This record gives sequence, C-alpha cells and structure tokens, in this order.
Amino acid sequence: EKEPVRILVTGAAGQIGYAIVPMIARGVMLGPDQPVILHLLDIEPVAEALNGVKMELTDAAFPLLKGVIATTDPIEACMGVNIAVMVGGFPRKEGMERKDVMSKNVSIYKAQASALEKHAADDCKVLVIANPANTNALILKEFAPSIPEKNITCLTRLDHNRALGQISERLDVQVSDVKNVIIWGNHSSTQYPDVSHATVHTSRGEKPVRELVSDDKWLNDEFITTVQQRGAAIIKARKQSSALSAASAACDHIRDWVLGTPKGTWVSMGVYSDGSYGIQPGLVYSFPVTCEKGRWSIVQGLMIDEFSRAKMDATEKELVEEKSMAYSCLD
Ligand code: NAI
Repeated sequence: EKEPVRILVTGAAGQIGYAIVPMIARGVMLGPDQPVILHLLDIEPVAEALNGVKMELTDAAFPLLKGVIATTDPIEACMGVNIAVMVGGFPRKEGMERKDVMSKNVSIYKAQASALEKHAADDCKVLVIANPANTNALILKEFAPSIPEKNITCLTRLDHNRALGQISERLDVQVSDVKNVIIWGNHSSTQYPDVSHATVHTSRGEKPVRELVSDDKWLNDEFITTVQQRGAAIIKARKQSSALSAASAACDHIRDWVLGTPKGTWVSMGVYSDGSYGIQPGLVYSFPVTCEKGRWSIVQGLMIDEFSRAKMDATEKELVEEKSMAYSCLD
C-alpha cells in the first residue's frame, strides 16, 4: 500500500471545508488508491465545530483516511504536509471596506506562510482558495521565500469549470466534451473567461466553440458576465456562497497538478507570472496550464486578439492595484 499523503485544509470548520474533506477522504483529489491523512486547521472560536467535523470523519469510516489532526495551532497543522489547501480567511462583512478585509487576510497569509515554510514537507504544493485568492497567494509566496514559487497557486478552476458548464448548457452537449476554455487574471469580476481556443468534441470531430455558437454577441457579452458574476448569483439563490462547486474545483486543481492533465487539454490555474503573454512578472495571474509529473507549465503561443488583450490587461491592472494595497497593509 502507498504511503499516506498529508493534506492540510485551513478554514476546515467553514462551508468549503465541510464540502471538501469528505471528497478528499473518498479519493476524489488524489485517486482511489492513495491513502490520506487530513490536517484540519481553524481558529479558536470555532474549535468545537472543528472537532465536530473530525467526529463525522471518524463516523464516515473512510477506508482511505488514515488519520485526522484537528487543531487551532498553525504549526501543528502544517507539520509535514505535502499539500496545503488554504480555505481559511476573513470574510467581508457588511460595512467593511475592501482595504480592511485585505488587511485581515494579508496578516493571516503572512503568518501562515511562515508556518508552512518552517514545518511543511519540502515539496509541499499550496493552493490558496480564500479571497482575495490571487493576492493571498502572492503574500504567501513573498513570506515563504524558501518554498519554490512553482509550488504556490490559487484557485481559478471554479471559474474555468463554470465556463465549461455555460458552454455545455448553451450547446446542449456533455460538459466532458467541452475543453480548453481559459480564465485569465484575477479570481474576481474582472477575470476574463476566454473561449477563443475552446473546442467541443462532436461526431464530426473537434469543433471550435466560436463556430458552434455562432452568436458572437452572446460569447462576447452575456457568457463573460455570467461567468464573472456566477459567484454572486449563487449567493443570491442559496443565501450562502458556492461551497460544493468550489470544493470540487479544488480537487480538480490538485488532481490535475499532481497526476497530470489529459493530452491535448489544458486547465486554468492562478500561478506566479513569468511574463508570459506580456503579463507583469511578480503577480499571481490565472493562465492556461498543462501539468505533467507534478509540474505545471503555461501554455505558450496562443494567438491573442485585440478584444482578449484589452480584457487580459484590465484584470492585470486590478491585480497590480491589489498588490499595492496588500503591501500598504503590511506597513
Ligand atoms: P466560511 O466563512 O464558511 O469558512 C472560512 C473558515 O475560515 C471559517 O471557519 C473561519 O473560522 C476560518 N478562518 C478564519 N481565519 C482563519 C485563520 N487565520 N486560520 C484558519 N482558519 C481561519 O467561508 P467559505 O464559504 O468556506 O469560503 C472560504 C473562502 O474561500 C472565502 O474567502 C471565500 O471568499 C473563498 N472562495 C473562493 C473561491 C475561489 O474560486 N477562489 C470560491 C468560493 C469561495
């Protein structure tokens, strides 16, 4: 039997935490033959609820689950972890300014960066989910200089999957037959969901989405805003934010990163920019990536038209502003 992989979930007493831990324990993230040990971190005020989650994990008797550590101590939580799923954060409450939320999260991610750097396994792969996800990931990277930048990512796979879902509904095709959409930029309403290179598997071969959806107005307008605003639409409908789909997307993100993307398919991940597509280095920006042997690489050489360029630049600009706001919170 394989050695268990240690997976940290921060914010484990929260909504996404509750949805993701059973997925991980059932093998959705790393496959049905990979044993796991869960490290669950949350904060003191919800310690009892966190312990309740641990009790339910015991009661679920998952064969792959070889242990659970539930703690409010970041050092204990980070000890020896191979994968860190960072869901914990400070939510925006009514009447709070963007900068106040940013400031709370920047200090959380700065502190947790140090705990991970000192105590996680050397090869630890980090996925930041808590918002502002790209900028929290950037802060984590800057304050954990010994963790390779390739190991720090943020979640835009939910947006990617939402885009696949919209195309599949529109064309009335299976979602598994749609591929290679791209989410560029920030996990925020400035993100650019791009179908310029997306295709659908049909009985007549692979067809470009742009050819099948002949309505350019829908693609250039309503499709984009629907994906950008989907988070808000879920909150409106459910009175709570998306947790099931976020948890599922997080499993997809890690699974593809560790086990590889299928041949001919790319996915979207928020990663540290190396300047590809003219995006400023030193930002965590969502790009199309392929993964192999536990490493991602940005898909190169895609043609970018003027329409796309303007949208990619707008979301880059927002990330530059977030970065400087984050730094001003550190002073
Ligand atoms: P939630 O409020 O239900 O859970 C967050 C948990 O984090 C709470 O249990 C809280 O006690 C905990 N927490 C707060 N500070 C912490 C700290 N310093 N260390 C450890 N835990 C801490 O929120 P939910 O719905 O689970 O969402 C979590 C985050 O994920 C939010 O920031 C949300 O905006 C973000 N999100 C991101 C998505 C993405 O696609 N990137 C999608 C959906 C949500």
